Amino acid sequence: MQKISIVGAGRVGETTAQILAEEELCREVALYDVREDVPEGVALDIFQTAPFFEFDCRLSGSNDPAILADSDLVVVTAGFPRKPGMSRSDVLAANVKIVDDVTDHIVEHAPNAIILVVSNPVDTLTYRVAQRTGWPRSRVFGQAGVLDASRMAAFIAEETGFSALDITTIVLGGHGDTMVPMPRYCTVNGVPVSTFIPADRLEAIIERTRKGGAEILALRKNSSAYDAPAAAVAAMVDAISNNRRRLMPCVALLEGEYGKHDIAMGVPCILDESGLRKVVELELNERERADFERSSAAVREDIERLASIV
Ligand code: 2OP
Repeated sequence: MQKISIVGAGRVGETTAQILAEEELCREVALYDVREDVPEGVALDIFQTAPFFEFDCRLSGSNDPAILADSDLVVVTAGFPRKPGMSRSDVLAANVKIVDDVTDHIVEHAPNAIILVVSNPVDTLTYRVAQRTGWPRSRVFGQAGVLDASRMAAFIAEETGFSALDITTIVLGGHGDTMVPMPRYCTVNGVPVSTFIPADRLEAIIERTRKGGAEILALRKNSSAYDAPAAAVAAMVDAISNNRRRLMPCVALLEGEYGKHDIAMGVPCILDESGLRKVVELELNERERADFERSSAAVREDIERLASIV
């Protein structure tokens, strides 16, 4: 890719920019933020790491949304993070207004871009961006499940002592306490994790995964997670930029898959140069189906709140 823009030069935006540059996933990273001087400062600071990390990617930052011009992909991280004790839904009212403005800027300056939404609550805001742009779902989707799955993999690596590299996990549903970790699809190099982890410990890992973001927030105190979220975004960008056709859980607009319409939530998708090429439908067992329904009801509640916010 030639140009990737990141909206929001906060911790997730900054860390994402650093990884994209280091991995040379594009020629140019542009940072847009409304805070005076901040995006310029972040871009300059990261560009000054180029000699150490040996990258050729250029970085720039601005308060002028025209910096988004001609982006191939825009990562939207802008918005208020939650504070300890808050749920992601508690920041919906504040963030929908920010994301609406951002969406209008993207439509004006980068009408052919792929939009990757990260701002929370990510399912509802992805839905919102899709509605506001009217763009196909292949070009508007969100990041959540890649992060949640990496958390689950880390917990399994800790529990078993095995390399995190060998652990495959998948987490579906909304990015909230009702998310749906899928232990049936979790393996250590193809061997079901249930071979190594007793049922009660696996249940504890599932529960810890659901609360993974809150755990980091409680420990960091003045910040949500940003290292793993940025790495998750970069992994999705890599799949798109390198046309890898990777199967990754993404926040996707559902058009009848999983029996759902008019909602965005986490499902397995194929990512390639076109963006979100395809939603993959899995057969869910009884428990997975019940959990998925509970999760979609939680997302639906937030989507219905949109009408009263604006
Ligand atoms: C997380 O799960 C902030 O939603 C983000 O850490």
